[in-house]
Amino acid sequence: MAQPIPSDADPRALESLLAFWSEAGVEVCVEDEPVDRMVRAAPPSRPAAPALLRHAPASEAVAPEIGEAVIEARALAAAAGDLGALAEAIAAFEGCPLKFQGARQSVFSRGNPQGPVMAIGEGPGGEEDQQGAPFVGRAGKLLDLMLNAAGLHDRVFITNTVFWRPPGNRTPTLLEQSVCEPFLERAIELVGPKMLLLVGGASAKFMLKKDEGILSLRGRWFEWRSPAAELVLPALPTLHPAFLLRQPAAKKRAWSDLLTLAERLDRQARPA
Ligand code: URA
Repeated sequence: MAQPIPSDADPRALESLLAFWSEAGVEVCVEDEPVDRMVRAAPPSRPAAPALLRHAPASEAVAPEIGEAVIEARALAAAAGDLGALAEAIAAFEGCPLKFQGARQSVFSRGNPQGPVMAIGEGPGGEEDQQGAPFVGRAGKLLDLMLNAAGLHDRVFITNTVFWRPPGNRTPTLLEQSVCEPFLERAIELVGPKMLLLVGGASAKFMLKKDEGILSLRGRWFEWRSPAAELVLPALPTLHPAFLLRQPAAKKRAWSDLLTLAERLDRQARPA
C-alpha cells in the first residue's frame, strides 16, 4: 500500500514515484484515500455522495438507485429542447458513476447535427476526455478517414453510449450505459437520423440488446427501437477503429460495412 508522502519530500523523488505509477498504467486517481485491498478492514469513510450512483458497482444491490438515476436522466433528457440544452443537461447530470471516476469532463458529440447517419461508439477515451469531443484520438482519426473515403464524413453525427471516460479505457458496464441511455435516445430524437452506425461490440450489443459478438453482428442490418417503439431505425454494427488499429487485416470488413451503409443511404435519397 502507498505510504503517506511527507510534506518535505524531495520533488525529484515525487517525480520518480509518479513516473513509476504512470509506467505501471495508473492514469487516474479514483479515490481520495488509498485502499489496501489486501487487508479485510472497513473501507475508509467517504464524504457524502451528492448523487445516488457515485461509487455504485454494477450489481443488483443498487438496482433501485439505478432506477432513480434513469428516471432523473429521462426527465432531464425530455426537458432538453435542442442539442445544446441536451449537452448542458448531460454535463450537469450526477447519476452516472463514471463522472466520479476520474473523468475530466462530459463528452457528448461532434459532427453534423442534421446528418442522416448517427455513429454511436462505446465511450470516450483519454484524448476525448481531454478535448471534450468523441472520436478525436487515433481511433477517431481512422474513423474519419474511413467515413471520408466512403463519402460519409459530413453526413454523420458522432456520439457514444456513455458520456464520461471509463477509467483506464475499460468497456462501459451495462449499468453505466443504461443510466446514459435516456440522453442518447433524446439525441436520436433531436437529430432524427435515417440510420445508425453502431461502432464496436459494446455499442452494438447494448443498442440492439444482443449477446452475440461484434464479429457476428457486423455488416448485418438490424432494427433499433426506442423504448416506446415510437422510433424505429435501421442500424448497422461495424468493427471499432481501435480494433482495426490492432488488427489492420480486419479493415476490409469495416470498409465493406461503410459501403453497405453509404449504398443504403444513397438508395433512400434517390427519387423513387
Ligand atoms: N472510442 C469510442 O468508442 N468512442 C470515442 O469517442 C473514442 C474512442
